[in-house]
Amino acid sequence: MNNIIQLTDKDYISKGLHRKCYHHPDDANKCIKVNYNEGADEETNREIAYYKHLIKRNISWNALARYYGSVTTNFGEGQVFELIRDYNGKTASSLEKYLADEQLTEQYYVALVKSLKELKSALLKDRIITMTIKSKNILFQHLTPEQNRLIIIDNIGNSTFIPIANYISFFATAKIERTWQRFLTSLIRENQHNSLITRLINEVSQ
Ligand SMILES: Nc1ncnc2c1ncn2[C@@H]1O[C@H](COP(=O)(O)OP(=O)(O)O)[C@@H](O)[C@H]1O
Ligand SMILES: [Mg+2]
Repeated sequence: MNNIIQLTDKDYISKGLHRKCYHHPDDANKCIKVNYNEGADEETNREIAYYKHLIKRNISWNALARYYGSVTTNFGEGQVFELIRDYNGKTASSLEKYLADEQLTEQYYVALVKSLKELKSALLKDRIITMTIKSKNILFQHLTPEQNRLIIIDNIGNSTFIPIANYISFFATAKIERTWQRFLTSLIRENQHNSLITRLINEVSQ
């Protein structure tokens, strides 16, 4: 069947370096990502291969947006993911945004510390390997006014040719710990202007 999904500007959410993200026109809880430049294919293929590996392992999806397979769109092949929305229906905003604005950091301080700790636990529990973790690729989702979580939406998987960390727990844990420490260091470096950042990261590390 040749079922081409028509994406238009009204479905557009946002873009990164490689992909544009659209609302799925037929499903309010899904989004479709399409590559829009050179070099995107390799990254997308790596990510999708890793997602398939995680689906086989039956992980809990507490740290990542669920993946629903590929579709054909008017912009070429698209990948369908769970759309990360807040309880009010709005698309969730990035952790980058919450840490760039000191007032937002203050407002959500306790929830941010808790959610960061839970994100790390979820990565370790599900043995999820990521490339560099960046705050712009993590969405802070408000599930209810009191319940929040951080979901990684990009840069999943492993670039190593023989990904030993995918199969052997000891290597996976070591790799996740290393990537996580680099991530926390990057949060401090990128948010020097935010007087709460060092205390927040210290609390996350405890
Ligand atoms: N699952 C999702 N739910 C809601 N918004 C998303 C989702 N995935 C991506 N986005 C939005 O689309 C942008 C681009 O997606 P991303 O996967 O980061 O593309 P790239 O690989 O080009 O960086 C993100 O920064 C975010 O704003
Ligand atoms: Mg991105």
